[in-house]
Amino acid sequence: MGKYLFKIEDLTHIYEDRTILNIFSLAFEEKKIHAITGPNGSGKTTLCNILGLLLKPTFGKIWYQEEMFYENGGLPERLRKKITMVHQNPFLFHTTVEKNVAYGLKVRNYSHSQRNQKVASFLKLMGIEHLRHQQGTRLSGGETQRVAVARALAIDPEVLILDEFTANVDRNYVKIIEGVIQDVFRQKNITIFLVTHDENQASRIAHTVTHLIDGEVVDHSSLSH
Ligand SMILES: Nc1ncnc2c1ncn2[C@@H]1O[C@H](COP(=O)(O)OP(=O)(O)O)[C@@H](O)[C@H]1O
Ligand SMILES: [Mg+2]
Repeated sequence: MGKYLFKIEDLTHIYEDRTILNIFSLAFEEKKIHAITGPNGSGKTTLCNILGLLLKPTFGKIWYQEEMFYENGGLPERLRKKITMVHQNPFLFHTTVEKNVAYGLKVRNYSHSQRNQKVASFLKLMGIEHLRHQQGTRLSGGETQRVAVARALAIDPEVLILDEFTANVDRNYVKIIEGVIQDVFRQKNITIFLVTHDENQASRIAHTVTHLIDGEVVDHSSLSH
């Protein structure tokens, strides 16, 4: 058994008097692909937003390695650099693919040549070198997702959370995108959360599956591959 990356205890999230998530105890090992599955409205995105530090849960404890989220009431800024999320409908800036991917590097003061080098390597990893000079806003769903992942990876996260990654992707393209995710996993050796209502997709590429129904974990199991 590897080291635990996230540990959750007695987590509850309430929206407008409705309990959306209610998780007694859950842990995720590092450097694995974890699928979060469940029907629409089961709380998958809410859980991702919580793990991705975009949403503070109403109650509960979460640890990232040994560090507790929101320990002294504040936002764990240090963790923000380690955990990154790509949304179902990612928003690309009105500029080239290259500049979209370089954005996080620029704000982190990487030099021009370092940026170029990194952008080239992430475009290559995502198989989209040919899109480098295209406008980000003119791409297909699958291309947009790949650019969004390249942009997320550019900051060297330890955790990548993908919410319904293939929902807006052409059916013929889904297997290709799944292959790209596996390449990212192998080459970057990071932890990936793959949120999907497609249980077949989960069993194709994930190491563990956590199934939610009405905000509760009804199954949390390992897959053998
Ligand atoms: N910002 C919000 N305000 C109120 N209710 C919300 C909000 N976001 C999600 N919900 C509700 O929480 C439940 C779980 O939503 P979500 O986490 O998006 O599920 P999933 O991603 O599995 O489809 C749904 O019933 C949804 O309507
Ligand atoms: Mg969702």
